[in-house]
This record gives sequence, C-alpha cells and structure tokens, in this order.
Amino acid sequence: MKKKILVTGGAGYIGSHTVVELFLSGYQPIIVDNMCNTSERNIIGINNLLKTTIPFHNIDCTDLDQMNIFFENHKDIHAVIHFAAYKSVGESIENPEKYYKNNIGSTEVLLKCLEKQKLKNLIFSSSCTVYGMPDKLPVNEGSPFKRAESPYGETKQKCEVLIKDNACNSVSLRYFNPIGSHDSGLIGDCSSDNASNLVPIVAEVAFGIRERLIVNGNDYDTHDGTCIRDYIHVQDLALAHVRALDYLLAKEGKYIFNVGTGNGLSVLDIVNTFEQVNNLKVNYVIGPRREGDIEKIYSDGSLIKNILGWEAMRSTKDALISAWKWQNSKML
Ligand code: NAD
Ligand code: WQD
Repeated sequence: MKKKILVTGGAGYIGSHTVVELFLSGYQPIIVDNMCNTSERNIIGINNLLKTTIPFHNIDCTDLDQMNIFFENHKDIHAVIHFAAYKSVGESIENPEKYYKNNIGSTEVLLKCLEKQKLKNLIFSSSCTVYGMPDKLPVNEGSPFKRAESPYGETKQKCEVLIKDNACNSVSLRYFNPIGSHDSGLIGDCSSDNASNLVPIVAEVAFGIRERLIVNGNDYDTHDGTCIRDYIHVQDLALAHVRALDYLLAKEGKYIFNVGTGNGLSVLDIVNTFEQVNNLKVNYVIGPRREGDIEKIYSDGSLIKNILGWEAMRSTKDALISAWKWQNSKML
C-alpha cells in the first residue's frame, strides 16, 4: 500500500513539483489547497504528467473545522508537507497582518490537527530568509536567526519555533532561491501577483512583457558588484522533500536542513547565463540598491548531503532553460 502524504499548498509552484516527485517515488500525495495563489493549470499539469488523478481538496488550511473534517475522513495519512503560505516579501511589508494570519495561522491549525490525530510527521517549507543578514558565509543550520527583513521572514522564523516546540517529528527545510520549472513545461509558478523574483522577471523581459530588468545596484562587494544568491532548480528542491520524508519516516526526530547548491551567483551571472542558454537578449539597466537587500548569501549544504544523501543534481543552465520554457508555455 502506498503511504498517503498530505501536501498543503500542493497546487502551487514548489508543491506541484513535489507532488510529482512523491508520486514517482511511490508515495500517494493528497493535495489540500484553497487556490488563493495558483491556478487549476497546475492540477491539470500534474495529472497529465503522471497520467493519473491526484486527490485534491479545496480547503483553507487556516480553517480548523474544515481541516479537522479532512483529517477525520483521512485517518490513514502518514505525514504532512506544509507548503501553504503567502510568499510575497513586498506584500508582507504592506500588509503584515495578512501574512501573520495565513502563514502562522495555517501552521497553528495544522499542529492542532496533528496532535488531535496523533499524527507525528511534518515537513515544513522554511526559507533562508530566517538568517536575515548573515555574519558568516556560507550559512549553515547553526547560523543564528537575525532580524527578519520582512513580516514574511518573521512568519518563517515563528513557524520554525512553533514546530520545534511541538511534540511532532519534523523537518524544516530552509530553501535558498528556487528557480526553473519541470522539464515538461506542464507545471510551474502560477502565482497571481506580479512577479518580483529575479528569474521570472528576466523571463518576462525576454518575452517582451516587460521593457527591461532593473538590476538592484552594482556597487556591492562582489565580483561584478551585484548581489549574490544560491539559486536552486525547483525539481532538485522537490526531491529534497522526498529524501526528507524517507528519512523522517525511518528515523523519528527533529531536523533542520538548508536546501541550496552551495554555489553563489550574482544577478548578472543569472542574466548572462539566461541569455547564453536561451540565445536571447535581456534588456537591463542598473538601478539603485533595493532597501534591505542582502549582499551575499549561499548555503553550506554539507548537513543535508551527509544525513539525507541529497545534493543538487541539476545545473543553473538547466534551470534557466526550463524557466524560459515555462514562460512560453504559460502564455499559451
Ligand atoms: P506558491 O504561492 O506557488 O504556493 C503556495 C500554495 O499554497 C498556493 O497554491 C496557494 O494557493 C496555497 N495556499 C496559500 N495559503 C493557503 C491556505 N490558507 N490554505 C490552503 N492553501 C493555501 O508558493 P511557493 O513558491 O510554491 O512556496 C511554497 C512554500 O515555500 C511557501 O511556504 C513559501 O513561503 C516557501 N518558500 C518559497 C520560496 C520561493 O522563493 N518560492 C523560498 C523559500 C520558501
Ligand atoms: C534575487 C536577486 C535582487 C529583481 C526572496 C525572498 C526570500 C526567498 C526567495 C521565500 C536580489 C535582484 C531582483 C529585480 C534585481 N523567498 N533583483 N532586480 O530577494 O534573494 O529572496 O525570494 O522565502 O525570502 O526574500 O530573491 O529573486 O527577489 O532577488 O536586481 O527586478 O535579484 O536585488 O539581489 P531574494 P529575488
């Protein structure tokens, strides 16, 4: 019998890729998503890709009654992967309450349901944003939480603490910068908000939807003056969830892992590679620094490699080819 895994936010960007990898690895994912920041396109894409119908429930994870009913009707769930959250840093600064309510609220509801069901296994979508402005690079899991740069970042710090203090077995995965899409072009980021992350903007400029990319400053202490990040292919990130789940089901405990490549790339490295692998020009100008931007951050990936045996397998080139493919297929 396949083990059933509840995937909250499973119709979203990272969740949809993870649902695919879970199924291909022999698990039975069940999606709960209220579709507040994605599209049915991803559900159709998952089902077409896997040639099956993945169970889907349109439920708001902050609704305790609905979530309790869901769990009462699914007594055989083995673990929960909790992606459901809002993710726009800019919007969280404009409307912090919305972020506290949804991101912290959904995690609190889930923890209550797990306790009630005596269900113990939880994997949580955290973020490198919990490290704030790091003192030392690369950052490892022992690096301290610094002041969060946004209410969004605060919600990730708060949820990690709630989970740590709860009795459940858990893995918090601190993603660095997820980019790209599934090779098939069938699933991807369907967020309803305007793109604010680098790679989707680069793809929109190349497509002609935006006139140009504004590079946020080129006077940082880096090889070309632009900020450094650790960009990870979303399919590699999805596989990290499967490895984390395998481990958690075999070995009870509380774990935290960085999920990155360990490789720091600048904004202009990304633009140049995107141009090269897709044979395109990306119109850009250098603008001022973005307030609160972190100069450089990249991951120390030794813990996840040593414990879970996971490391990124796909290249930045692969990721940027798939990002361009998704830009084209989502416009059809
Ligand atoms: P996404 O917006 O594409 O996916 C989130 C999904 O959750 C969406 O499908 C949305 O409809 C759903 N959702 C939101 N609130 C819900 C609720 N109350 N009830 C039910 N469904 C709800 O975002 P993503 O990029 O796939 O991010 C997934 C998780 O990873 C989030 O927790 C995010 O904070 C975290 N994360 C994302 C990034 C990134 O750069 N994309 C980086 C680090 C961490
Ligand atoms: C990357 C680099 C920008 C847009 C955010 C969240 C973080 C995590 C990942 C969720 C930076 C530069 C960008 C543009 C630019 N998400 N840039 N022009 O800021 O590393 O992280 O997403 O947890 O919490 O904060 O990602 O893609 O916005 O920026 O020059 O138009 O690209 O300044 O140096 P960031 P990003």
